[in-house]
Amino acid sequence: MRKVIIAGNWKMNKTTTEAIELANGLKRELYKIDDIGIVICPPFTAIDEVAEVVYESNIGLGAQNIHWEDAGAFTGEVSAPMIKELGCVYVILGHSERRQYFHETNETVDKKLKSALKHGLTPIVCVGESLEEREGGRTFDVIRDHVTNSLEGLTPEDAKKIIIAYEPVWAIGTGKTATPEQAQEVHAFIRGLLTELFGRETAEEITIQYGGSVKPGNIVELINQKDIDGALVGGASLDVKSFSEIVKNCSRKGA
Ligand code: PGA
Repeated sequence: MRKVIIAGNWKMNKTTTEAIELANGLKRELYKIDDIGIVICPPFTAIDEVAEVVYESNIGLGAQNIHWEDAGAFTGEVSAPMIKELGCVYVILGHSERRQYFHETNETVDKKLKSALKHGLTPIVCVGESLEEREGGRTFDVIRDHVTNSLEGLTPEDAKKIIIAYEPVWAIGTGKTATPEQAQEVHAFIRGLLTELFGRETAEEITIQYGGSVKPGNIVELINQKDIDGALVGGASLDVKSFSEIVKNCSRKGA
């Protein structure tokens, strides 16, 4: 059984003071949840303080990006050992905003992925098509390109340690969610690609999250799809009530 993992991507939101408040609120609301993996990814500046809040709780900590080198002359960058020392267990890689605004490519995602694994972090690798690509009938080509090239050179053993997030770019922050059927179709395709690359047993173990305008009101029908194993939540993760409700609605698959 794959564990359901709900991760909050706070993006460039929350000062440290605000982040501490949000993390405390989530801890209060969610301390009883034991069947869902809960992850929050604050901005770098708040990670240290948020780590203290969630220490020894059921909430895991992640960062939103890393550089692929451990150290060096890369002004403005942060590396895997740096976030690891602060208590991060997860790192989001290849988010569409990074691919779109910061020239992230499959090749850089792949290098970052290897650094994350080398340092024992769990990477959440994001893939997804734009509206233009979907309307042009290229969804599956884009997903194949993102998955095969971002995971280039991984062994099945390594592949078992990663999470994939399918995030159709047209559904991110737009209020437009993919229908559960549209999402399941792509998730099943990704599972098929992972089977081609790493074998069936490994592919069956990999958590594939859905992301894009996930809300308390739409998570249940998404999570009930066979190949949807959780969510990467942006906007709705910035508020104690909405993120807690998403997690609670998934607990015991919404029962
Ligand atoms: P959203 O963002 O939930 O605000 O659509 C999701 C994401 O970008 O990870």
